Amino acid sequence: MDLTKGSAIVSGGAGGLGGATARRLVELGMHVVVLEPDYGKAAEFADTLGSRAIPMAGDHNNEEDVRSAIRKAQAVGVFSINVNSAGVAIATPATADSSGVPHDPAIFRQMIDLHLFGPFNMSRLCAAAFALNEADEDGQRGVIVNTSSTAAWDGQPCQVAYAAAKAAIAGMTIAMARDLAEIGVRACAIAPGPIWTPRLAGATVELKNELLKNVAFPKRFGRAEEFANLVEAIVKTPFLNGQTIRLDGALSTPLTPMTPPEDA
Ligand SMILES: NC(=O)c1ccc[n+]([C@@H]2O[C@H](COP(=O)([O-])OP(=O)(O)OC[C@H]3O[C@@H](n4cnc5c(N)ncnc54)[C@H](O)[C@@H]3O)[C@@H](O)[C@H]2O)c1
Repeated sequence: MDLTKGSAIVSGGAGGLGGATARRLVELGMHVVVLEPDYGKAAEFADTLGSRAIPMAGDHNNEEDVRSAIRKAQAVGVFSINVNSAGVAIATPATADSSGVPHDPAIFRQMIDLHLFGPFNMSRLCAAAFALNEADEDGQRGVIVNTSSTAAWDGQPCQVAYAAAKAAIAGMTIAMARDLAEIGVRACAIAPGPIWTPRLAGATVELKNELLKNVAFPKRFGRAEEFANLVEAIVKTPFLNGQTIRLDGALSTPLTPMTPPEDA
């Protein structure tokens, strides 16, 4: 796959992980559509990447927004890479609390929409567009990378909806890779542990200290550039398919109270 002729869409493309990814793909010679709900945020970030970054206002859950992002990507290159790294830190309750109040189902659905349906919506529409690309020498037409989390296996108290969505990303990735094999499209996911992004910067000091204790080595938070390294490796390694890869410094998570972010 000749990346210099290619284009990509990164959802959450001005965020921590999405931003590092968009920057890397531009450095590799691609045109990149930076998809964000807020145009101002997308444009301000895209400006830092130069003319090959195309800001766009849109919601990964909205079919028309995604189709429009695909048209923009197709207008500037062979649209062949989709990385989904959108998210919002939302304070969520326990399944039921000690005063007998059950989890608000609307919050559960909101989390599933944001962290599962959105990436699925992006994947299905981008894969359909990739299907019409000319195949490379490996028969490859496109690559999708979704973002799971170590919470997929190690969900903590007050993370029931988030953990369910992230586990579903891992579950869907292998099925998706097998679905899309016929059209030469690969699907992988990255399951980050604590990576230093604006999202983590907003967490309480107690939570940050707790998370850091749980990282085995290197004893620090992950860097968004390390996420971008892994996206690059996935894109450049055609035999890698269907996998959800942990990026977490061998994190092990004992019970950790997931207190809401400081700005929630
Ligand atoms: N940072 C971590 O430690 C970490 C760990 C595990 C998983 N993750 C996952 O990685 C993803 C990105 O996290 P991050 O740390 O970069 O967060 P971030 O807040 O820095 O970036 C997320 C971006 O997504 C955008 N976004 C929100 N809703 C959107 C929508 N509907 N459509 C398109 N874009 C939207 C936001 O505006 C923001 O720019 C999330 O799914 C998160 O759950 C992050």
